Amino acid sequence: MALVFDSSLLRTEFNIPTQFIWPEEEKAGLDEKELLVPVIDLSGFLSGDPVSASETARFIGEACEKHGFFQVINHQIDSQLISDVHNHLDAFFTMPLSEKQRVQRKPGESSGYASSFTGRFSSKLPWKETLSFPYSSSPHFSNGVKDYFSITMGDGFKQAGEVYQRYCEEMSRLSLKIMELLGLSLGVEKTYFRDFFEGNDSIMRLNYYPPCQKPDLTLGTGPHCDPTSLTILHQDLVNGLQVFVDGNWHSIRPQPEAFVVNIGDTFMALSNGRYKSCLHRAVVNSVKPRKSLAFFLCPDKNKLVSPPNELIDEEHPRKYPDFTWSSLLEFTQKHYRADMKTLDVFSKWLLNEMPNNVPINPPRSAIENDIGLKLG
Ligand code: OGA
Ligand code: NI
Repeated sequence: MALVFDSSLLRTEFNIPTQFIWPEEEKAGLDEKELLVPVIDLSGFLSGDPVSASETARFIGEACEKHGFFQVINHQIDSQLISDVHNHLDAFFTMPLSEKQRVQRKPGESSGYASSFTGRFSSKLPWKETLSFPYSSSPHFSNGVKDYFSITMGDGFKQAGEVYQRYCEEMSRLSLKIMELLGLSLGVEKTYFRDFFEGNDSIMRLNYYPPCQKPDLTLGTGPHCDPTSLTILHQDLVNGLQVFVDGNWHSIRPQPEAFVVNIGDTFMALSNGRYKSCLHRAVVNSVKPRKSLAFFLCPDKNKLVSPPNELIDEEHPRKYPDFTWSSLLEFTQKHYRADMKTLDVFSKWLLNEMPNNVPINPPRSAIENDIGLKLG
């Protein structure tokens, strides 16, 4: 029998397939202490108040120097839109497997439906299903998301495509506003990072974590740092996201009116290492499915990732070489399973300091990914 991750069957299974059992040292702690991430009210800044802007930037800067995680509220994203996305996500993942497989992600592709067993690798598999698709802010792709759904799934998914399209546009807009705050907080021009990401080739991923009868043996998403630039995550009401800070895992309690925002490796490089891209993971539970919406802001593929001059001086020499987002993406897909050292290893690899320039650790299956960008 071919192995498939059929969540309608696996969710009640007490003997979970061994491929999903994680080694002792990586196993989930199900009730870790809560991480007190700042909840940042964007209303003053978004209304154009300069005093609010500098105060907000200061809070964000502190969080980014510590661990790179914060939450935002009063972000002006329509709550109806968010709940529409969750409803379409539910409708998609609760379809029979054969229906979901109509958009099965094929090897070498980065969009579509994926779950663990469709990959090449067979251990430390994450307990989840994902649906990923690209979003580009370029006017040439102004209907890119919508078209993706109607072309691959047919007219029945037209409305879902429209909702996802609108959501991605809103996420792109919000991430550019956050880029202004990051610029302010780092003491560079407010528009510097905003301009850098104005044209972005981003990625949207819907995560669905079915219940698991042995939640302490597995992980929904393994420990990783996002190799992308900025992640804007919306979680439903079910706990699961955890961040590794000061040597311990901490949970981030869901707050439906908030987005969880975190710095990724690419922004860490852009900030010349000032802002942290932090290890995180997701755990599962035995009762309720968990859903999350992840928008990964990424620069235009060929744009050079290089920190602004203001962030380089004698005390702060260059930490990473220049690179393009497409080369880091390829590195995490072909050579390296993203972890907390991705950026350091990638830098060495670029500078030809790796022995023989060979792959450094086994890449995970494209699908298996939890990690990084194997857009699983
Ligand atoms: C991710 C991720 C966490 C979550 O998709 O990169 O870290 O809570 N997800 O789903
Ligand atoms: Ni992540």
